[in-house]
Amino acid sequence: MNYGTIATWRMAHDGVIKANELLQNSGSSDDALEITVKSVEDYPFYKSVGFGGLPNAKGILEMDAAFMNGDTFQLGAVAGITDIKNPISVARKLSHEKFNSFLVGQGATDYAIEEGFEEKEMLTERARKIWSNRLDDIKKHNLSAYDGHDTVGVVTLDKQGSMTAGTSSSGLFMKRPGRVGDSPLSGSGFYVDSEIGGASATGLGEDLMKGCLAYEIVRKMKEGLSPQEACDQTLYSFHDLLTKRYGKAGAFSLIAMNNRGQWGVATNVEFTFSVGNQEKEPAIFIANMGNNHSTIIEPISQEWLDAYEKRIKAPIK
Ligand code: GLY
Repeated sequence: MNYGTIATWRMAHDGVIKANELLQNSGSSDDALEITVKSVEDYPFYKSVGFGGLPNAKGILEMDAAFMNGDTFQLGAVAGITDIKNPISVARKLSHEKFNSFLVGQGATDYAIEEGFEEKEMLTERARKIWSNRLDDIKKHNLSAYDGHDTVGVVTLDKQGSMTAGTSSSGLFMKRPGRVGDSPLSGSGFYVDSEIGGASATGLGEDLMKGCLAYEIVRKMKEGLSPQEACDQTLYSFHDLLTKRYGKAGAFSLIAMNNRGQWGVATNVEFTFSVGNQEKEPAIFIANMGNNHSTIIEPISQEWLDAYEKRIKAPIK
């Protein structure tokens, strides 16, 4: 029986391992998705998701997350939620609500508290220092304030044939308070249909939401394209279209898996991801844009992993 998990960025790998153990033992795609995202939300050295994520321009960490079940299309999302340990769990709970299933700001935080989700001061001292250093740099060197939008996006498939997609992100570093990216938006940050497959995005939300790329990839898989063909055709055509019509395209990457556990990715920037299915144990890969709307995918090197580990834990002055 087929099963699998695919997730954006190297940071998701430990969660993908846990998810696939669960799926191998006939666990549900919903649980596998939540496990994957929580493992990223809980790790303090990842600067773009959950605990340790970087704050907005006012120094407040506002988080976005979404959860979608591909059997029923039940979908829950939060945007701008603050000081709640696991936004993905709140999004999952909201996916069971017939009304009010997408909550923002204080409404999302209040809901999470009322429903008994764990509260936690999510801004770490390390993230606060990075924010304060950035404020100084912006003033001194007239830099662009905006940086960093490495969402964790995940698609899971269980042995029963159910699929789930979800995201979690602290969004753009130094964003305006109230800014929301693609991550909690159905069709842009994620989409899943268990009869076809699912997709999820990471990158500049302002550009991703111009193309509804996650939905488009699922739609193309429905037409019979493989996940890799659907990712290549969707992302690179949109990159070209946006460059032509808008003048530039921000960095973005998409992952997809179909309901047979086959997967694909496409990206216009160097992009790491983790994937495992019924045939292969989870592994980390690195992807780059190739020629003629293709993607070059290679196994990650130990050298890259060592440099990454050093970079994310480097002391902040
Ligand atoms: N992709 C995450 C964001 O732009 O907020």
